[in-house]
Amino acid sequence: MKKVTKTAALVLAMAMVISTLTACGDDSGATTDAAVTDEAAANDTADTADADEAADTDAAQGTVTKTEGVMTFGTNAEFPPFEFVAGTGVIDQYDGIDMAIAKQIAEENGMTAAIENMEFDSLLIALQNGQIDAVIAGMTVTEERKEAVDFSTPYYTATQVMIVKEDSDIAAAADMADKKICVIQGYTGEVCVNDMGYPYEAFKKGTEAVMELVNGKCDVVVIDSATAQKYVNDNEGLKIVEDAAAFEAEEYAIAVRKGNTELLDMINTAIDAKLADGTISELGVKYTEEITAE
Ligand code: ARG
Repeated sequence: MKKVTKTAALVLAMAMVISTLTACGDDSGATTDAAVTDEAAANDTADTADADEAADTDAAQGTVTKTEGVMTFGTNAEFPPFEFVAGTGVIDQYDGIDMAIAKQIAEENGMTAAIENMEFDSLLIALQNGQIDAVIAGMTVTEERKEAVDFSTPYYTATQVMIVKEDSDIAAAADMADKKICVIQGYTGEVCVNDMGYPYEAFKKGTEAVMELVNGKCDVVVIDSATAQKYVNDNEGLKIVEDAAAFEAEEYAIAVRKGNTELLDMINTAIDAKLADGTISELGVKYTEEITAE
């Protein structure tokens, strides 16, 4: 009897693990990521000659980046507290945790950091095309993305959460079933909701989705936790609902072109040191406090 119960419990536990994984993240249900990979792959083939040429030139100049002495990071500066446009930022007008990390990584390697701001969906393609050297964009490591690019050591753990109106009756992910759901195009939040099988509307920016919610045109926005906190602080009458069983933990990392191990090593050495000496958690506190204080 006891044995049966134990086995049953184990089976149940395993089923839960599997369903969590299926609900969000890494499997084939990841339509958006798959599209990115396919498109990127097509692009890659088209640009192989260019990329090879660029690589040869880089090798000849003894540099691991497209411009000697400059690390060019791609981002999508619509994701506070990680990257946002400010009056004065740490790199040009760009500020946030990721921007501070990027600047330090470049400078510790005797280079300067440059930012190319673009749509989130375009980042991995731009990386593969050689338009940028790395992506730093609060980007979650997923199996789909790993097929297209190489990731650094993860530097931040996050999860998807639901932003709802304060009086909403949504208390768990399953409660979204008959609600109007808003997501951001290409974010892992879209992958999660898609995997759950719920219909949704996708927006280009977090702020656009949150405006829909504020204006009563949708019932819930699914987005990363720290960014959700920023939107809740900025807008009256919203709250965050978590569901750890439905949304698995995600890890943010920096992406480089597949095989650019020299750059990846530079990035990893810097990240490892910043994780060990508390620099990254201090940046997390700093930019989160700035958000709360606003
Ligand atoms: N972590 C999520 C993802 O990887 C969202 C990242 C959005 N980042 C941004 N800079 N807009 O899909």
